[in-house]
Amino acid sequence: MSSDEMKKRAAAAALEYVEDDTVIGVGTGSTVNYFIEALSRIKHRIEGAVSSSEVTTQRLKACKIPVLDLNAAGLLPLYVDGADEINRQLQMIKGGGGALTREKIVAAASERFVCIADQSKLVDVLGTFPLPVEVIPMARSYVGRELLKRGGQPVLRENFITDNGNLILDVYNLAILEPSKLEAELNNVAGVVTVGLFARRPADVLLLGMADGVRVLK
Ligand code: A5P
Repeated sequence: MSSDEMKKRAAAAALEYVEDDTVIGVGTGSTVNYFIEALSRIKHRIEGAVSSSEVTTQRLKACKIPVLDLNAAGLLPLYVDGADEINRQLQMIKGGGGALTREKIVAAASERFVCIADQSKLVDVLGTFPLPVEVIPMARSYVGRELLKRGGQPVLRENFITDNGNLILDVYNLAILEPSKLEAELNNVAGVVTVGLFARRPADVLLLGMADGVRVLK
């Protein structure tokens, strides 16, 4: 079975967590795109969605799912998003698509985070996938030096500007043995907007698409 089919399975399973007449937080990425497709089939049951990126907003609108502003929506009961890597504590690396800042905001404003992924995303230790860090453009070199001091190899993502007008440094070779600690530490570097480590607010449920079904981790 292809990884796309496993993503689709995980995305379909997330519909079980959607409650009637609520606003759903929607993440970004290829797995979430399958979730948007599935959600469009039950759109009459929900009030709408809060989007985590411009790309997702376009897809939601194309499916005629109303897109609401987070400030107007308040606390969301559910956020559904993918991950680039996830460990058994349900801590994640996210931001492969560059949407990490808005994803982290919507996740923080949600009661329950359901992560949908194919089986390749589950890892023992985070860090094989380069850690995305969104930075204010004028701080690019300074933040790069701070990352080097911590043993990482930052690489500027070429020809990429985030939805917030910032840059992404993809950081290779970081040993992420204490994800919450590293998240807090990097959050404190001046010029860092968001670290793509989602450890202090991990997912609550992981729906892992596998060849023989969907595995649920909590
Ligand atoms: C987007 O910025 C990311 O955080 C995505 O959630 C992550 O890259 C997962 O994407 P896929 O579902 O395409 O693997």
